[in-house]
Amino acid sequence: MVRVAVAGGSGQVSREVIDVLIESKKHSLTILSRKEAPTTAIVPEINWQIVDYNDKEGLVEALQGIHTLLSFVQILSDPDQKSQKNLIDAAISAGVKRFAPSEYGSKGTVDMAWWHGKEKIREYLKEVNVKGNILEYTLFQPGLFLDYLAFPYKTAKHVDPLQSVFDFENRRAIVVDGHEDAIMTLTTVADLATVVARAVDYDGRWPTTGGIRGNRLTFSQILEIGRRVRGHSFTIDKVIVEDLEAGNLKTSWSLEAVHRAVSEDQASALLKMVSIGILLSSSKGAWDSSDELNQLFPDYKFTPIEEFLAKAWEGKL
Ligand SMILES: NC(=O)c1ccc[n+]([C@@H]2O[C@H](COP(=O)([O-])OP(=O)(O)OC[C@H]3O[C@@H](n4cnc5c(N)ncnc54)[C@H](OP(=O)(O)O)[C@@H]3O)[C@@H](O)[C@H]2O)c1
Repeated sequence: MVRVAVAGGSGQVSREVIDVLIESKKHSLTILSRKEAPTTAIVPEINWQIVDYNDKEGLVEALQGIHTLLSFVQILSDPDQKSQKNLIDAAISAGVKRFAPSEYGSKGTVDMAWWHGKEKIREYLKEVNVKGNILEYTLFQPGLFLDYLAFPYKTAKHVDPLQSVFDFENRRAIVVDGHEDAIMTLTTVADLATVVARAVDYDGRWPTTGGIRGNRLTFSQILEIGRRVRGHSFTIDKVIVEDLEAGNLKTSWSLEAVHRAVSEDQASALLKMVSIGILLSSSKGAWDSSDELNQLFPDYKFTPIEEFLAKAWEGKL
């Protein structure tokens, strides 16, 4: 048993992991939050600790005796990543053994400005460890949540559905001309949560890159699965790299559903940026996650994409 603290533990992805950790009954859990604990749906055995991410001393105090610190803090609302940097400094001062920053996405962040905060923290973690192993850490990288291909249906407990360039509902997709073989890694939220919980149980040293490969496919393979699962071929909007690089998305449709952390006035610009960013970055290999955690837990059976989507779309028009 170790003491685990979860920063941003009131969020969507963190609650998936917390549920698995609670069920395993192996560790004691502390949620770090800027807010009061909700009066409902909090299990009594979880300790709720209010923190101010600008108060380093308070953070050091909150992290006393913590072995593993998992961060899920929303990086969009903190462009300089002050919260996570202070959290890392405090973790080091408090003697936390290992840390996972708010990653849980792609391997690379090229062309994805909304995720550049992840890059800042990767750099910061390298910096603090430059003189040796100051803070053990891993970057959990499961690729895109496979659950998003079930949009608008909710397939995870806490993570809300979100649209992607693969629109299974309307049997259509956006693809970069000439990059149909670009790789996407797609992992279910449930698999991510289980693997993170297994990594918490794991006694050995965490690999710095925590690649998680639920499913690794080309765009063409995903569309072929779409055809089988949804009963006929998808309509494809082909876009060209030059247009994307110039910030133009010349498509017959666009994303509309936005993450709840995004304000209404930012929504339409961000949705366009996300489509362009995912298309460009995938053509540059950013979504081809490595498989360090598959290797660490070779007995773990990930949910196969076709099985998951066939179930999600069963009986749906
Ligand atoms: N791979 C994918 O497809 C995918 C999809 C979604 C998310 N993700 C990643 O998963 C991680 C968590 O995302 P999420 O959607 O679960 O986040 P979220 O629910 O929007 O936010 C998580 C928590 O962050 C805390 N928070 C917000 N702003 C903060 C700030 N400025 N400083 C400190 N804490 C702050 C809040 O907790 P309190 O208010 O309680 O402090 C919030 O509950 C992110 O790294 C995200 O990029 C990946």
